[in-house]
Amino acid sequence: MTVFHARQAARRAVATALAAGATALAAVAAPGIGVAHAQSSQTQPSQSQPALSDVASLGKLIFNDPSLSASGRMSCASCHSPAHAYGPPNGLAAQLGGSDLRSQGSRAVPTLGYVLNRTPVWTHVQAASVFERLTDADSPPAGGFAWDGRYNTLHDQALFPLFNPNEMANRDTADVAAKLERAPYAARFKQLFGETIFVSKDAAVHQAMQAVERFELEEPGFHSYTSKFDAYLDGKAEFTASEMRGKKLFDDPNGGNCASCHIDQVGANGAHPLFTDFQFEALGVPRNPELRANRDPKYYDKGLCGPVRTDVSSNKNYCGLFKTPTLRNVATRGVFFHNGRFHTLRDALRFYVERDTNPEKWYPKDRQGHVVKFDDLPVAERVNVDIVDEPLTRKPGGKPAWNARDIDDVIAFLKTLDDGYLPSNPPTAGARFVKVSAPIKRQ
Ligand code: HEC
Ligand code: HEC
Repeated sequence: MTVFHARQAARRAVATALAAGATALAAVAAPGIGVAHAQSSQTQPSQSQPALSDVASLGKLIFNDPSLSASGRMSCASCHSPAHAYGPPNGLAAQLGGSDLRSQGSRAVPTLGYVLNRTPVWTHVQAASVFERLTDADSPPAGGFAWDGRYNTLHDQALFPLFNPNEMANRDTADVAAKLERAPYAARFKQLFGETIFVSKDAAVHQAMQAVERFELEEPGFHSYTSKFDAYLDGKAEFTASEMRGKKLFDDPNGGNCASCHIDQVGANGAHPLFTDFQFEALGVPRNPELRANRDPKYYDKGLCGPVRTDVSSNKNYCGLFKTPTLRNVATRGVFFHNGRFHTLRDALRFYVERDTNPEKWYPKDRQGHVVKFDDLPVAERVNVDIVDEPLTRKPGGKPAWNARDIDDVIAFLKTLDDGYLPSNPPTAGARFVKVSAPIKRQ
């Protein structure tokens, strides 16, 4: 077992502790919010939702404002579509942005649902000694925003798309401040942040991003807890035989083992689970030829160790690691994993169970005809890919953890994580449930 794999073995204990009670950084920034929305009572439609604060309401306008981009046609909501669980509105591996909306990003758009107010700060407890490193005392890296955890606050994160040439592509803060000053909500902006706010361009942009952060933390639509799974946890819905079977397959530590990272247990304080432990892991997702960046054979997106994130790239154990995403609303997505390599949930699941038993289905062959496993990492860093956690331990020609029917059942279970399932009657035994297409709005 390498050092790294010893650490992976320690993941379960840490993960459970993390899911149960870790201080979410956003909840610290916004006392009470994370906790309030974490309660199971969220699923009770009779409860009234607190109105957005003035700053958050302004943040909502900014989040949805395409005039804040070089193209004039791209807002945060273009990629994080409210009608798509704040994930991408299409199946593109990476979205197109820039001044002409033709520049391709290099990563799939993650959902903003559920995670924003519960993401812990980036941490990796450095081992005090080699001994500690080799034992379970060393914990895997976790937390932070983006696939590589490089931001600890939402307002810092929000600056990235604003200036990224492949996204909203603004030149500088003066450029953004001028756009804010021209926006229909400029008067409100001044009311909230002072008549002289636009004197300092930096201060104006900073306050705008603070407002976006408030919106991201306060808007109940980011975490509505209206899925069938939530109703099931509250005893207000029953799973079908297929959904129940899917859940068992998902949980089975010797089978899918999915729940060891995508946690589905209720937290210590009754919080409904988010289906992530916020930890980093290398799964060896195949290289995606749909990404233009990958036309350069020397380019590798190595997650924690760069090239986008730069502060921890000297740690080669980090190469290839990406943050575990939530699986809430995952069945509504048209693109999966950090590089958007898969476009159906079925393929994403087949990849997990067949990666090692049938690698030829997932990876290309070299000139000698050998299958090149983990081809989206340089050869020396392929050792970081997880081969110790089920179902990633199998051998070529072996039996995949799941067959086609099993995958159908797991998909049925994952569909119970879609928001918009609500009891049509008061929650009494035997109540009927209706499926609605959009998250329910409550006053
Ligand atoms: C062109 C598409 C695009 C636009 C526009 C965009 N984003 Fe994103 N967003 C992404 C991608 C891709 C990622 C993943 C980035 C990474 O891992 O480096 C991301 C990540 C995030 C995250 C981190 C989520 C997490 O779970 O860690 C947040 C928060 C976020 N975006 C908010 C915003 C806000 C606020 C705006 C507007 C100011 C915005 N985004 C505009 C594509 C976009
Ligand atoms: C060892 C931890 C771990 C285990 C076990 C695990 N996952 Fe994941 N999962 C991750 C990580 C990390 C990612 C992101 C990897 C990447 O993009 O490179 C991910 C991504 C996904 C995605 C893509 C979601 C999205 O928004 O793009 C799906 C679907 C998924 N996992 C389902 C499952 C299922 C089903 C199982 C059980 C067969 C499972 N996972 C087991 C860690 C894990």
